[in-house]
Amino acid sequence: MNIELARKQIPVTSRRAYFDNAGTGPPPIPVLNAINQFIMEWRDYGENWEEWLPIIVESRRLFGKMTGASLGEIACVPNVSTGLTALASSIRYKPKGNIVISDLNFPTNIYIWHLQQKRGRADEVRLLHRNDNGIIPLEEWEKNIDDDTTLVSVDYASWTNGSREKIRDIARIAHEHNAFVIGDCFHALGVYPVNVQQDGVDALACGMYKWLQGPHGAAYLYTRRDKLGDLDPNYIGWHGVKDSVVNRHSHNQDMFGTPFNLEEAEPAADATRFEGGSWGVISVVGAKAALEWALKDDQADRYHHVIKVTDHLVDGLKRKGRTILTPLNSDRRSGIIVFEDPDPAGTFNKLKSLNITVASRVKAIRVSAHYYNTEEEVDKLLAAL
Ligand SMILES: Cc1ncc(COP(=O)(O)O)c(C=O)c1O
Repeated sequence: MNIELARKQIPVTSRRAYFDNAGTGPPPIPVLNAINQFIMEWRDYGENWEEWLPIIVESRRLFGKMTGASLGEIACVPNVSTGLTALASSIRYKPKGNIVISDLNFPTNIYIWHLQQKRGRADEVRLLHRNDNGIIPLEEWEKNIDDDTTLVSVDYASWTNGSREKIRDIARIAHEHNAFVIGDCFHALGVYPVNVQQDGVDALACGMYKWLQGPHGAAYLYTRRDKLGDLDPNYIGWHGVKDSVVNRHSHNQDMFGTPFNLEEAEPAADATRFEGGSWGVISVVGAKAALEWALKDDQADRYHHVIKVTDHLVDGLKRKGRTILTPLNSDRRSGIIVFEDPDPAGTFNKLKSLNITVASRVKAIRVSAHYYNTEEEVDKLLAAL
């Protein structure tokens, strides 16, 4: 990993010390070029599905490569919330079952499960609350997951305090009770290695627009091949069926040469059953370029650098007497550091005026540093604070 070279390809680094990767990651030039090229070709030639469809398929394959999954296990969806909705609408709920989630999850990954309870698909939602140290100890998961648990849904790293979950242990406990395990790795993928096999998740959702530096409008959903049979979506669309135009095209058949079977559409045998209608190709083109960009780096190298830079930040914040809300145990660290601030909106604006980008949160500032950030940028932030 060459940080100097990478920074030359990320235009925002010449303008700002950018520490909001947990909000929106800044695009590298290859992502911008791919999107621009798509726009030009769209302008000049109009529709071109013969070329666009292979891009969709290739982007799925690359996401699989990043996460240790195979092509048939990946669906390309518009955003993480849609991916989680697809799962919620497909799972076989245990009668009188419960759902176990965490208050460190992003709101969608909480709302959606309360909704399932309202719709009568679960008797109980067990929302675990972080302790005073900002974590949910493994014993809490152990205590709350039981044989009536239909599913456990957990964020790999928390958007709110950066705490990293012990996903492998949680998955192991859940599987001992025959519960389905969903991971949202939006704040993990691109920062540290994620591997669906080793992590033991049955499903995984991730967007592109944060740590992966891609555009909004493209996200990916992994579902384990041997669990697909248990997942029966309560919706269907022309791209999610066995006889889809993508399948026709990849078998060298005319995409619209024969009629579709309108009476008996069968869901696709692979994860594409979760794709209902047309993709935002303009986003998927950028997502594919962003995955290619991320795949150039060893993900463990990225994490090593992120920890070095955030350690530097933590040392500086401690010297300033700031209260850090992020758990600092080495096995809990992600790229996010959150600290208390009496006037977050004021601090955010002041930093912005000095070309430093952070995020303002409830009584706190969130700094999310990535593999391309430097200790010098952290020094600039500390001096400004
Ligand atoms: C962990 C996590 N999951 C999901 C989302 C929302 O994703 P989307 O807008 O793609 O639905 C966010 C947004 O910040 C997030 O932090």
